[in-house]
Amino acid sequence: MTGIKIRNLSKIFMLKNKEVPVFDGMNLFVEKQSFVTIVGKSGCGKTTLLRILCGLEEKTGGEVLYMENGRECGKCPKMSIVFQEPRLMPWLTVKENMAFSLENEKDSGKVESTVNKYLKILGLDEFKDAYPSQISGGMAQRVALGRTLCYEPDVILMDEPLGALDAYNRKILQDELIHIFNSCKKTIVFVTHDIEEALYLGQRLIVIDDGKIMEDIDIKENYPRDIHSAKFSRLRGKAMHTIMDSKNKLAVAQ
Ligand SMILES: Nc1ncnc2c1ncn2[C@@H]1O[C@H](COP(=O)(O)OP(=O)(O)OP(=O)(O)O)[C@@H](O)[C@H]1O
Ligand SMILES: [Mg+2]
Repeated sequence: MTGIKIRNLSKIFMLKNKEVPVFDGMNLFVEKQSFVTIVGKSGCGKTTLLRILCGLEEKTGGEVLYMENGRECGKCPKMSIVFQEPRLMPWLTVKENMAFSLENEKDSGKVESTVNKYLKILGLDEFKDAYPSQISGGMAQRVALGRTLCYEPDVILMDEPLGALDAYNRKILQDELIHIFNSCKKTIVFVTHDIEEALYLGQRLIVIDDGKIMEDIDIKENYPRDIHSAKFSRLRGKAMHTIMDSKNKLAVAQ
């Protein structure tokens, strides 16, 4: 068992002296080099979970442990997060934005070769000298992904990174992500609102609600996938039912 173990996680925000509980005893194990997708209704804590994982947010209780062969090793893997918006630096070119994550790398040859490698993988070669204002939204998101990949993290956390894209660009980037996952062997934790996207990408689909994991579905299916197949329709129904069921409970409670 090698990966990240979240044990008994709790998180309570304070808003105007009132407690906002988000997680209450959540447990999750993210296996090394697996592709985990997370869905759940708005406000259930998906972003908070990613922020806790990469240390941008403090947890209230519980533990985040790094495991190696079944033992806690205490060594945090190299992590990076991709947000819904690309957050590029407008005064830097595509290439410079991607190289930014390597600013501490002294070997300029290594910087050059790493950036060139991912420019090629992401089909950005032609636009390497363009500024963010000169490229499309889909390309900007690709640059953001490229910047993350240049950093060469072991774990990539993605918070609805394709949410702002049109269906066509979204599909292209989904396929690129699968290609990157297959060829670069990263651990990917991918948050999305879109159950179909989660089923298309993930090896495992997690549904979060009420501060806990409500569903944990293993998706043993090779890529590329036909999400319109009977099997995927069934899985989509199952995940949707869990989310709708919790919404109904909420409506009744109110
Ligand atoms: N800094 C904060 N202070 C107070 N409450 C917060 C803070 N950040 C998040 N919350 C609350 O925590 C809960 C979870 O927020 P989070 O952003 O993690 O949800 P989410 O699942 O990512 O939602 P969405 O799908 O809309 O992005 C929400 O109720 C939100 O209002
Ligand atoms: Mg969010």
